[in-house]
Amino acid sequence: MDSERKQQDPTLVCTCNDLYQVDIEDSIEFGETEYREIFAVQGLQPRCGECVEHVGEIVEVSLHKVS
Ligand code: FES
Repeated sequence: MDSERKQQDPTLVCTCNDLYQVDIEDSIEFGETEYREIFAVQGLQPRCGECVEHVGEIVEVSLHKVS
């Protein structure tokens, strides 16, 4: 996790894989809500694992979003 980069861009979720909020939301729309599966949809794997909470927050918000 590169905290400095993440601070500069709050939409950057995973600095190990350069995954942005929109990428996580795409995976959720694809039906994934599990951390590892969300990465797998993008053809990636978590590395340091420090973004797990941020990913979880996006999942929570997305699942409760009224569309
Ligand atoms: S920031 Fe390291 S795996 Fe996501």
